[in-house]
Amino acid sequence: MTSTTKFESYFHVLRDVIRAMHSITDLQEVLDIVVTKTTGVLDARGALLRILNKETNQFEVRAACGFGERYLTKGPVSTETLLSILSEPGKVYIIRDIRNAPRVEYPQETWNEGVRMMVDMPLAIREPMGLIRIYFTQQREFSDDELDFIKTVAMHCACVIERVQLIENQQTRFNHLATQMEKRSSLGRMAAGIAHEINNPLTGILLYSSNLSKKVPKGGRLEEGLSIIIKETQRCKTIIQGLLDFAREQKPEMTPVDINDIMESALGIVENEFHLRHVRIKKALSEDMVSTFLDENQIEQVFINLLLNALQAVDDRGLVTVQSAVDGKARRVHVEIADNGCGIVAENLKRIFEPFFSTKGDGTGLGLAVSYGIVRNHKGNIQVFSEPGQGTLFVVEFPILPTKSLESHQS
Ligand SMILES: Nc1ncnc2c1ncn2[C@@H]1O[C@H](COP(=O)(O)OP(=O)(O)OP(=O)(O)O)[C@@H](O)[C@H]1O
Ligand SMILES: [Mg+2]
Repeated sequence: MTSTTKFESYFHVLRDVIRAMHSITDLQEVLDIVVTKTTGVLDARGALLRILNKETNQFEVRAACGFGERYLTKGPVSTETLLSILSEPGKVYIIRDIRNAPRVEYPQETWNEGVRMMVDMPLAIREPMGLIRIYFTQQREFSDDELDFIKTVAMHCACVIERVQLIENQQTRFNHLATQMEKRSSLGRMAAGIAHEINNPLTGILLYSSNLSKKVPKGGRLEEGLSIIIKETQRCKTIIQGLLDFAREQKPEMTPVDINDIMESALGIVENEFHLRHVRIKKALSEDMVSTFLDENQIEQVFINLLLNALQAVDDRGLVTVQSAVDGKARRVHVEIADNGCGIVAENLKRIFEPFFSTKGDGTGLGLAVSYGIVRNHKGNIQVFSEPGQGTLFVVEFPILPTKSLESHQS
């Protein structure tokens, strides 16, 4: 082939590969085209394309050309070896002595396939994502054009992989959210159905055991047993009440209120508990707070839940900081509740808003699930930042609603 026709064939292959990358949405199809076309135009024995699977931390063969099943299943390749190869993205590695190259993990098997030389091309954008390895049956030289061709194919290939991975990540996150919402609503329906049924017999048990305990001799085993029944029944009633609150998803009754006043009132309710545990509260409520439309009772319940969680997370003599602020530009008000307590480990952080998730022996695990529902019903947002051993910060924010939008918001 003359150099002109060679150049033309590179150009055509590059054009086909790039066209495929931008027009085909199936990643597998694009990868197959990359390995077959590259193998063909470079007169290679074959090519293998591996992509790093972040979940298993393994480089998986995602496309191959020119090799049979036997060679492809010769054994696993070490992630460390491949990562060390990929440390210099954008560089083409030519391996001439395959039997003595540390980066070749199965030299004998590769030699037996008739391979005498290889070219490695890392796939990376910001971080290593994979590798294209091209195999040749004899030693040969590469012109600058050929090396540029390989680099260009690898660069475009890396872009396509990143784009597809981004779409896949978003899809996974969306599916996760959709499942969570579905779980929440079916749980809500189920809870509403059974909570009433259980609430009535519990009221009966509580009534009769309280009456009985007044009639039995004081200090005896009978009284002790009855007091346990009463305590446990009351606990069941608290759980049921929590479930009802969670399921009811009451429509907020919006009135114009100052969020600082709601916080002051919530602090007044929990004050004694804090005092008993010698836990300090530091307040920094905004002096320029504007009033916004909220359901006072529901938001007070959210603040009480967050304050009690903070109290339960700190040691005696811990510190809980409460702040509020107005973001006039974004038309939002913020409230922050921070503690210097035990913090939340990453795997729990994902689950704290799930109903019934609790790490406390006596917790119902409904506090945050109910709070989340209330805040979302107010078109607000609740975020959490936590560092195990350092503390936790909850940020609750609500939109500042102009008076005229109140009716549309409530409808
Ligand atoms: N400030 C915090 N610091 C550390 N962990 C927290 C904090 N707030 C919540 N958590 C974690 O989130 C879990 C769920 O909290 P949630 O308020 O929903 O339930 P709970 O406090 O366990 O029980 P309940 O509120 O029903 O008494 C807690 O068990 C705890 O593990
Ligand atoms: Mg709680």
